[in-house]
Amino acid sequence: MKGVITIITFLCVGIITAFYIGFGFPNSSSSVAVDEELVGLHEKYTLKFSHVVAKNTPKGLAAAYFAELIKEKTNGWVEVQLFPNGVLYSAQEEFEALKKGDIHIIAPAFSEVTLHDRKWTALDLPYLFDNEIMVEQAFEGRVGDLLLESIEQKGYKGIAFWDNGFKQITNNVRPIVYPEDIKGLSFRVMPSDALFKTYRTVGAKAVTFPFNEVYNVLRDGIVDGQENTLSNIYSKGFYQQQKYMTISNHNYLGYVILVDPEFWSTLPEIYQMSIQEAMNEVSIWLRAHAKELNNDMLHRIASSSLTEIYEQSEEEKVEWRKALKPLYDEYEFIIGRELMEELRKLQIEKEL
Ligand code: LMR
Repeated sequence: MKGVITIITFLCVGIITAFYIGFGFPNSSSSVAVDEELVGLHEKYTLKFSHVVAKNTPKGLAAAYFAELIKEKTNGWVEVQLFPNGVLYSAQEEFEALKKGDIHIIAPAFSEVTLHDRKWTALDLPYLFDNEIMVEQAFEGRVGDLLLESIEQKGYKGIAFWDNGFKQITNNVRPIVYPEDIKGLSFRVMPSDALFKTYRTVGAKAVTFPFNEVYNVLRDGIVDGQENTLSNIYSKGFYQQQKYMTISNHNYLGYVILVDPEFWSTLPEIYQMSIQEAMNEVSIWLRAHAKELNNDMLHRIASSSLTEIYEQSEEEKVEWRKALKPLYDEYEFIIGRELMEELRKLQIEKEL
């Protein structure tokens, strides 16, 4: 009899446990929903997430969505505090703050990562990607794996890739159609060696300033132009200071979500799983919406009539590719043969 009661008790506990862990709470969409009673977690975690862009951009919206998801998935035991618009740090200061534990999640643009790991200059090669499908293949495939392995060796853990969109060139002097049109002009770029060389190769000058200073350097005429995604050009008002914009799609601006591995290892495994799961969901959401968000900003810029917009044709792209080809040979050594071969495979697959 005692044996039967023990078996029944055991079965009941098993069913209840399976219900809570396996199927989640009614208000949770997560398969790793956390029941702090069952797993014995009583500590609340607050993760500070810093980024430099506006709230109404792909990254700003994705960060807000992530904060909401993680709260839901952990029943509020993990809270994400957002610091948008560079209110705490510039993109480069974020790396240091992450290492010191002053913040816990950052989402730098690939070009910013190049100062910490030169392999990431691979993604700054001009006209590398023709469309979002190629970008997705790179993030999801071997290219993404190689880059994440590489940044891990530099002391950062990459937990997701987030999309923004293709970069466009704006300036205040003349429309830029062919490579010769850019000669003698100066541009603000992110601090990536490959970006400096891109401009130098076509006879222009590139200088770097933190994102939060771009509006002022354009307004004060310190540089003639800049390159960015439509969402950044619109949300930070750059277009208000620029007479011309070329839709060139010459580089892809995406982000890698980084955490400090030491801090990460202090998080209970179930929370690590919840964070990873939320990140994956946000990446998928962003992939579906980033392009539409950028297009919406294009319409807003166009309807302001402050900036003359020129769309680069396929024939013109061929001219730019020709002019910028030397960069590919130069950077093979820096980014490594394996990564370069993977990038070439994407190019070849596109042509098939
Ligand atoms: C920049 O130009 O610095 C930005 O594109 C940064 C960002 O995070 O989008």
